[in-house]
Amino acid sequence: MSTGGERPWFFKYLQPGASAKDSLLTRRLLLRPLNRQDAKDFHAYARDPLVAKYVYWEPHKTLAQTRIILQGLMLQNRAEGLHTKALVLRDSLRMVGTIGLVWADKQNRVAELGFSLARDCWGQGLMAEALGAYLDYLFTTQGYERLEARHDILNPASGAVMRKAGMREEGLPPERVHYKGREASLVVYAARREDRQSTQHRETTKT
Ligand SMILES: CC(C)(COP(=O)(O)OP(=O)(O)OC[C@H]1O[C@@H](n2cnc3c(N)ncnc32)[C@H](O)[C@@H]1OP(=O)(O)O)[C@@H](O)C(=O)NCCC(=O)NCCS
Repeated sequence: MSTGGERPWFFKYLQPGASAKDSLLTRRLLLRPLNRQDAKDFHAYARDPLVAKYVYWEPHKTLAQTRIILQGLMLQNRAEGLHTKALVLRDSLRMVGTIGLVWADKQNRVAELGFSLARDCWGQGLMAEALGAYLDYLFTTQGYERLEARHDILNPASGAVMRKAGMREEGLPPERVHYKGREASLVVYAARREDRQSTQHRETTKT
């Protein structure tokens, strides 16, 4: 983190009032709070049926709908003390995804993760890079004890991301979940603070 009044390079891309300490840098990504200016980039990938195939949300239909969803995410984030981040490519400053969580057990600081990425960015290791840094951030600076994630068994790339970021597979519960018009089996992954090694994923914000 920069010191002595020196601001990190991405400071001007944060929403007024946002703090650089809420943002993370990895080799290729800036993870920062969502802001209203993300609507166009968010819509460009969230309208893609393949991106939405294995998530609970439906592909966005219009930019106006994306703006409403974005506003809702920002409000929910603030109201529930969550840590939803926009994934921004450092070289182009395009917002290409989100990573965030919902409480599973707030009292015991247990939350469930979710993430998605624009299709043209798949297969480059970007989400594993983001998730590794995000887990470190949640455990070391936000006091989470356990972070869980689930993926549809038909979406193994998501499980690969979880493993690459250091999460452990916990199994396949027998209950199936109904979404997108079918019964799905969801594989459970988790990471615990006590098991997490020291960070390798974050870079210093001073560049
Ligand atoms: C799932 C998703 C996040 C992956 O992001 P990504 O940046 O492409 O992931 P990475 O490049 O970091 O890693 C993908 C890994 O999955 C592996 N993979 C891809 N397709 C696979 C398949 N069919 N079976 C097994 N592994 C697969 C890749 O080989 C890679 O692992 P490797 O680096 O060891 O080779 C991205 O495809 C996405 O946003 N999908 C739509 C939204 C979504 O499904 N979110 C998850 C909901 S649980």
